[in-house]
Amino acid sequence: MNETEPGLPIGILAELTHRCTLQCAYCSNPLELLKADRELGTAEWISIFEQAADLGILQVHLSGGEPTLRRDLPDLVAALARRGVYSNLITAGVGVDGPTVERLAAAGLDHVQLSFQGARSETTELIGRLRGAHERKLAAARAVREAGLPLTVNAPIHRRNIDEVELFIELALDLGAERLEIANVQYYGWALLNRAALMPPREAVERQIEIVEAARAALRGVLAIDFVAPDYYARYPKACMGGWARDAFMITPDGTAMPCHAASTIPHLVFDNAARTPLEAIWRRSPAFEAYRGTAWMKDPCRSCDRREIDFGGCRCQAMALAGDPAATDPACSLSPLHGRVLQLAEGDAASEVETFRYRRIGAAAEPA
Ligand code: SF4
Ligand code: FES
Repeated sequence: MNETEPGLPIGILAELTHRCTLQCAYCSNPLELLKADRELGTAEWISIFEQAADLGILQVHLSGGEPTLRRDLPDLVAALARRGVYSNLITAGVGVDGPTVERLAAAGLDHVQLSFQGARSETTELIGRLRGAHERKLAAARAVREAGLPLTVNAPIHRRNIDEVELFIELALDLGAERLEIANVQYYGWALLNRAALMPPREAVERQIEIVEAARAALRGVLAIDFVAPDYYARYPKACMGGWARDAFMITPDGTAMPCHAASTIPHLVFDNAARTPLEAIWRRSPAFEAYRGTAWMKDPCRSCDRREIDFGGCRCQAMALAGDPAATDPACSLSPLHGRVLQLAEGDAASEVETFRYRRIGAAAEPA
């Protein structure tokens, strides 16, 4: 990418609301959740989606919180469909019944990603803190398939469900999913707060990788399995968001446009609001988007590393959280001088006896664990 003129974005993650039916302890939403009265209205979201289409954005992920709690969701989906923008609903599935799915399909929804907190009912209930959640998710998944929509099952993985990976694969097959995303939890937001209760041990991670690799080979052409490796045990970090402000960004429920989920944890960044500033101006000129775009901001070892345009130095927010410097090499990288410390943290947390979570809800982050 040219350092002075960014390429065009291809995707937006639209967090329509922070309201949710579940209280997952690894939620990627910020610790300060926005109440409903701070959410953008229907016309504001539709204006943003129109601008996104004008910019050539190909796909919008409708997320939350729980996006189906927005009564205007079919209108938002229809606005995207009118402009030929691919719409992907990311839902926890609780409360998503047959008529809801039918309405969304009729409005032009293209795809559904449905998360399961566990492959077993008791795990889903423990993690999401809602009785009966698993059965309601199963019903939602069936409704999605009956409506003829493609389904991806999302399985966020951590210490409390890492032994269910084989069951997740069976679940995805039973539900007729086309894709299964086995994503090890990323430690920012609520997951960072709950890291001691969530971090898996290295042996469990290695076994999980063997299971996934075997299943990928055995199920080729039947079920696509995406795998997001756990950062703390990795040799190299991921290109978080595919690189900062490189081809995708997110908009929070009140319209704040950010390069990634956790960008608000980087104190010096100031964000524009997509309800007040044109999307194209944000993409091209927002100082927050420009801050870590490309490679010019990098320090060593990233600056002189062959992988700098592969992983873009990893995750800026993880560098902030673990190194106290968003321009540092992501400490998940084995070339970071802090990597040994990260491994120690991971091993210490994995051996921790902490079992209680701080569940996601307004005010919970400030309570003692
Ligand atoms: Fe990636 Fe930086 Fe590590 Fe190189 S030093 S692998 S660019 S994070
Ligand atoms: Fe912000 Fe990774 S979450 S760059």
